Amino acid sequence: MDIKITKTTSPKAKPEGKLGFGKVFTDHMFVMNYTEGKGWHDARIVPYEKITLDPSAMVFHYGQEMFEGLKAYRGADGKARLFRPDMNAKRTNATNKRLCIPQLPEEDFVEAVRAVVEVDQDWIPTEDGTSLYIRPFIIATDEFLGVAPSKTYLFIIILSPSGAYYESGLAPVGIWIEDDYVRAVRGGMGFAKTGGNYAASLAAQVKAHDDGYSQVLWLDGVERKYIEEVGAMNIFFKIDGKIVTPMLNGSILPGITRNSVIEVCKSWGYEVEERKISVEELIDAQKSGKLEECFGTGTAAVISPVGKLRYKDDVMIINGNEIGEVSQKLYDTITGIQWGKVEDTFGWTMDVNK
Ligand code: PLP
Ligand code: COI
Repeated sequence: MDIKITKTTSPKAKPEGKLGFGKVFTDHMFVMNYTEGKGWHDARIVPYEKITLDPSAMVFHYGQEMFEGLKAYRGADGKARLFRPDMNAKRTNATNKRLCIPQLPEEDFVEAVRAVVEVDQDWIPTEDGTSLYIRPFIIATDEFLGVAPSKTYLFIIILSPSGAYYESGLAPVGIWIEDDYVRAVRGGMGFAKTGGNYAASLAAQVKAHDDGYSQVLWLDGVERKYIEEVGAMNIFFKIDGKIVTPMLNGSILPGITRNSVIEVCKSWGYEVEERKISVEELIDAQKSGKLEECFGTGTAAVISPVGKLRYKDDVMIINGNEIGEVSQKLYDTITGIQWGKVEDTFGWTMDVNK
């Protein structure tokens, strides 16, 4: 893939002070078109700008779109690194298949991410806990109101220097187990990273926020009995010494942080179970003192300790609303690998500069 690079002539000022999440964007973006019969073409890095679309563009009407999320980190040694971008490339194609969006060669996805981050590498923040959040996305652009897969698409990557996803930072969050709305069912789009899943989550999220909780924990869409995942994270429990997480069943996102946490925990000798977990099991484990820790995992959220879980009239306080030992160790190890402070024995990082 040949990428044409046009640099901005008016670079923006870099943000100062505490970085939030996803509010500031860098000087450049990657853009590539898809046209049926021609394939992906015109890969380019251009100054960050607004895009113009016809009001009839299909993405606005039927939601044919996908997105990804990954980060670039400025290492203690000054090197810029990506974390497992090949996994985002694979997940992109799994999402694309479900959404009838054309496949994107994995090596092109990774190269596009690397190249645009390389151009804007001065935007990778250096303060502790910060990174450059990378948001690749694809939208359907045919000007047509019929319900059918589009024949043209735009693949865009934007970059956002970011701090902690939750305003509380690494402090434990409160999570609302939703017993009314559901997010996804098997056979639906739950495993795909597409806007519709997030649109479906908003009503419950608003309800949870109004009650003082950070995010929603979804139950399965059929029986509303089994734990699925959180709004922007997968979920893990430490129950009686074992690490337990819902298995991938088609309705939850196969998180890259989830996969990394499973591998790290196994390498430490923990027994890791990927299986169905009912909400009753959690309540019982809590009552018998066996629910030792709970944490969410995600690119934006990293490792996020959960101190409080609400289900109907039950409020479970986990580990005294303190960061658990395993949560802290995982946070230190995974961010350590990402920031080049801990040896990357898994081969998960990739240098931005060739
Ligand atoms: N589940 C949902 C619904 C998400 O939005 C995310 C965030 O990307 C995750 C899980 C975690 O996935 P990953 O670890 O790949 O970021
Ligand atoms: C990520 O962690 O990359 C995500 O995509 C979460 C996002 C929905 C904010």
